[in-house]
Amino acid sequence: MSEAARSDFHFEFEDRVLLVTGAARGLGACIAERAAAGGARLLLGDIRDAQGEAVAKKIGGAVRYLHLDVAQEEEWTRWVEAALSEWGRIDALVNNAAILHIGTLENTPAEVALQVLRVNTLGPYLGIRAVLPAMKRQGEGAIVNIASIDGMTGMNGVSAYATSKWGLRGLTKSAAMELGRHGIRVNCVCPAGGNPEMYEPWAETLSGISEETRAYTDNRAIPGNAPMEAIADGALFLASDASRQCTGIDLPVDGGASVGHFIPGFNDF
Ligand SMILES: NC(=O)c1ccc[n+]([C@@H]2O[C@H](COP(=O)([O-])OP(=O)(O)OC[C@H]3O[C@@H](n4cnc5c(N)ncnc54)[C@H](O)[C@@H]3O)[C@@H](O)[C@H]2O)c1
Repeated sequence: MSEAARSDFHFEFEDRVLLVTGAARGLGACIAERAAAGGARLLLGDIRDAQGEAVAKKIGGAVRYLHLDVAQEEEWTRWVEAALSEWGRIDALVNNAAILHIGTLENTPAEVALQVLRVNTLGPYLGIRAVLPAMKRQGEGAIVNIASIDGMTGMNGVSAYATSKWGLRGLTKSAAMELGRHGIRVNCVCPAGGNPEMYEPWAETLSGISEETRAYTDNRAIPGNAPMEAIADGALFLASDASRQCTGIDLPVDGGASVGHFIPGFNDF
């Protein structure tokens, strides 16, 4: 398939209401753009308000932006109410907002780890609780949590982040079991890749890393990081009716990073 055909591809969301957190840039903005192409009405949330407003304006149509700090329960209440008063229903929530922390266990104090957990794990927990009454009333709904490859395997130097993403997978499976009988599906996407801007706060630390280390994505079945559009489509598959019998699953969009390690030379035997 050509790149042009790929970028034109979209899942069907006509008349559906999707809520996306962390949508001011990166993957969240990409998910919003691709959902809008499928006809979705969207509420976007983030703490980067100017960028969030700009994303909503760029997409245009039935797209709203409203400030949301996912770690604050009262903000969730206000945010969800805004969607309901505008459109009267919520078909899907994409819990995408997250923060990264690079640092070993020894160099990551408890308060830093707690902040990572507050945003990356408690945030989606609060989000599910916030949309639950509306989805239960409707008798249907889809929740998509954006985890990470670091929530599927272990990785050194990112313990707090990895803990938060493994926790998010646990939340996904438990919520799926609890909510399936209410018609609510809960799934998660585990990407190996995303917005490089997420690494910016550690640019100086990472500048000392060797070329060899930087090439750590080369041993994937499909080398390199997954493109943001492909990750967004994974999330939108799980938000759409195309995945109607899927719940509690992890969808790795990782070029096979969680499957095994490609060994150079072994393909020549
Ligand atoms: N960047 C990667 O390489 C990578 C890899 C695997 C998984 N992911 C996951 O993909 C998702 C999207 O990340 P991204 O790559 O687009 O990075 P990003 O940093 O561009 O996006 C994260 C967004 O979350 C927002 N955010 C942070 N704290 C928030 C809070 N308290 N409340 C609301 N919004 C908040 C940020 O402002 C930002 O817009 C995240 O869940 C991330 O963990 C990213």
